[in-house]
Amino acid sequence: MAFVGCVSGLKAAQTKRAPRVCEVKMAWTPVTTKDEIDAAGGFTVVKTAGKKVLIKELDGQLYAVSNKCSHLGLPIEGKILKAKFSDTCVTCAAHGSQFDIKTGEVVEWCPTIPNWAGFAKAKPAPLPTFPVRISGNGQVEIDV
Ligand code: FES
Repeated sequence: MAFVGCVSGLKAAQTKRAPRVCEVKMAWTPVTTKDEIDAAGGFTVVKTAGKKVLIKELDGQLYAVSNKCSHLGLPIEGKILKAKFSDTCVTCAAHGSQFDIKTGEVVEWCPTIPNWAGFAKAKPAPLPTFPVRISGNGQVEIDV
């Protein structure tokens, strides 16, 4: 997403200046198709702009989060580690951290790592999320 410029219209009105316009340019990149996601069971991992992104369908909507776990950076869905989905959440198989697919927020943090004194867990961090859409021809596009 490229930021072009933005200024509060309220502040402009208070100072009797013409309001300025916010403009955000999206950089949509086609990464897969809706049919491919359906055929794969409702989720897939794509790589674009050097990032691996997990795309999941929930109730007819697509959501995209980083496939790199915010705990230790391991893949949430990969060749060895397999993501587990429940309701609106995805769980990293490595240490059980659970994230909300819609927001990337942490639901549970590293429940399989003991909470011993002096054995500090990393501070909980959400997964980055990305805008995702389906174009008219069924192409799935994301903006990283
Ligand atoms: S790497 Fe995902 S929970 Fe530890």
